[in-house]
Amino acid sequence: MLFSDDENMIEIAPDAFLLKGFLLGNSKVLLQSLNNIFSLSPLRNMETPGGYRMSVAMSNCGEWGWVTDKTGYRYTNSDPVTNKPWQPMPGIFRQLAQDAAERAGFLGFEPDACLINRYAVGAKMSLHQDKDEANFSQPIVSFSLGLPCIFDFGGAIREAPKIALTLEHGDVLVWGGKSRLNYHGVRTIKAGEHPLLGPYRFNLTFRRSQK
Ligand code: SIN
Ligand code: FE2
Repeated sequence: MLFSDDENMIEIAPDAFLLKGFLLGNSKVLLQSLNNIFSLSPLRNMETPGGYRMSVAMSNCGEWGWVTDKTGYRYTNSDPVTNKPWQPMPGIFRQLAQDAAERAGFLGFEPDACLINRYAVGAKMSLHQDKDEANFSQPIVSFSLGLPCIFDFGGAIREAPKIALTLEHGDVLVWGGKSRLNYHGVRTIKAGEHPLLGPYRFNLTFRRSQK
């Protein structure tokens, strides 16, 4: 692994960076905003096109939100549970996501979607690519809060070697450019209790979904 001149930033692959502890100092305000979003667009376990219920509970904020159901994966501009627009992306979310992108060398990041994932103990996310977006020129910015996880980061094909990263409360991962379509996944969350977030891991994934 390469360390940049910023000792909290680790280059894990070409154009992919781990910003350790980047969100520390903003956890409480992030948590308040999350609770507000969940009161209006509740967390739900969506169904995959194959008919499985996801172990990760999800909501969204921003103009566009990622959903899955029997008919497939896609972005919608309203919440299928409430039939109302997704909640606006809080200014602090956008600002921190843009700051993280910039730190990693991606200027002008304009996310229009923020997927919010809640992992209970035992939940996981299988290896996949983020490719439902109409725009791969912008990076993905991913916040981790609450319980830690092991995050596998691979290459552009499923079979490529993977590195296993521990993502902890406050960490941000940014990947774009040559790594934008790299496979990644989250291993089963182990039992634990986070002082602020309890027995959960939260992940916020910011993306540019439209052109
Ligand atoms: C995702 O790939 O959508 C989630 C990643 C994570 O939970 O860290
Ligand atoms: Fe993903």
